[in-house]
Amino acid sequence: MRVQPATAEEIERFYDAARSFWHPVARTDDLLAGQTMAVKLLAEDLVLWRNAQGMPAVGDDICPHRGTKLSMGTVTGDGCLQCPYHLFEFDSDGACTKIPQLPGKPISPKVRLGTYSAVDYAGLVWVCLDTNSANSTKPPLVPRAEDPGWWLYAGEPPEWNCQAPRMIENFLDLAHFGAIHSANFGNPEVHEVAPYKPVTHKGENAITFEVNYLARYRWAPEEDGKPAVRPIHYRYRCDLPFASWIETNVEGEHPYYTFAVCQPVSVDQTKIYWLTTFTNEVHHSPEELDKGFLPFFAEDQAIVEQQRPEWLPLDVSDELHMPFDKISVAYRRALAELGFPTIRLAPG
Ligand SMILES: [Fe+2]
Repeated sequence: MRVQPATAEEIERFYDAARSFWHPVARTDDLLAGQTMAVKLLAEDLVLWRNAQGMPAVGDDICPHRGTKLSMGTVTGDGCLQCPYHLFEFDSDGACTKIPQLPGKPISPKVRLGTYSAVDYAGLVWVCLDTNSANSTKPPLVPRAEDPGWWLYAGEPPEWNCQAPRMIENFLDLAHFGAIHSANFGNPEVHEVAPYKPVTHKGENAITFEVNYLARYRWAPEEDGKPAVRPIHYRYRCDLPFASWIETNVEGEHPYYTFAVCQPVSVDQTKIYWLTTFTNEVHHSPEELDKGFLPFFAEDQAIVEQQRPEWLPLDVSDELHMPFDKISVAYRRALAELGFPTIRLAPG
């Protein structure tokens, strides 16, 4: 089957639809005071830094004077971004505060850097490129991120060669655990998905559902040559378009959360931030968490990067949907309603 590539117009529509949402661009701890960081979001080159108050600032990574990459510059003692070429300085609102070649002269308000909204939240730096939307919306809620009785770990974000919706659909998919995660929590004996019902919350741009699963328990010894298992009750929430979390409930244990959110670097490049939150009674080292989570992200990556078409088909008459795929259908429909474009599979 030929797979039709996305057109320039479809690519623009994807970026337009994603623009009004908050997306992560870095981990909070990786954006150090006094340093610049070059990041890409929705194919836009951006520069991150921290202002004098330590708040994250984000601007176009291009000096309005001669087009120099500002991320190659430095941050001044008063939290301004200094261009490496002619040493112009810009504050976090984009105002030019210094042109060394024009000492004592007033600076035209036309000399401005394009800046956007940025916040630190739940261990991540979030950016919204749409000014109107930034004032009326917030990043998706990370469960227990600000609860003093809980702690949060933000893992090193892997980068996948895929479209962001492909990654999120995989994170929500319930029917592949026994097939590709059998070395982890996936039970190779169980492929059937227990009944579940996704609920779309239009006002909140969210989809929620709950499901039971008899997971493999790889930390317990095998029983009669078979992997140990234990029942888990999962509660899922997807915050459209590119964030989702899972609450994992095991009887007799504290619940914990796994939160995944995409930085759509471009239409086919996606950085994945994964956070976990645990009650203070539970202790895990970063190494234990990396060992627990990174292998199954890698298992998913190998599948998702080669799915075709590269873009998730949002017209549900494309591809085949089984009763256990209700969540994929709900997710695809919700993205289409938000204006994300679908691309058709080419006939023949
Ligand atoms: Fe998976």
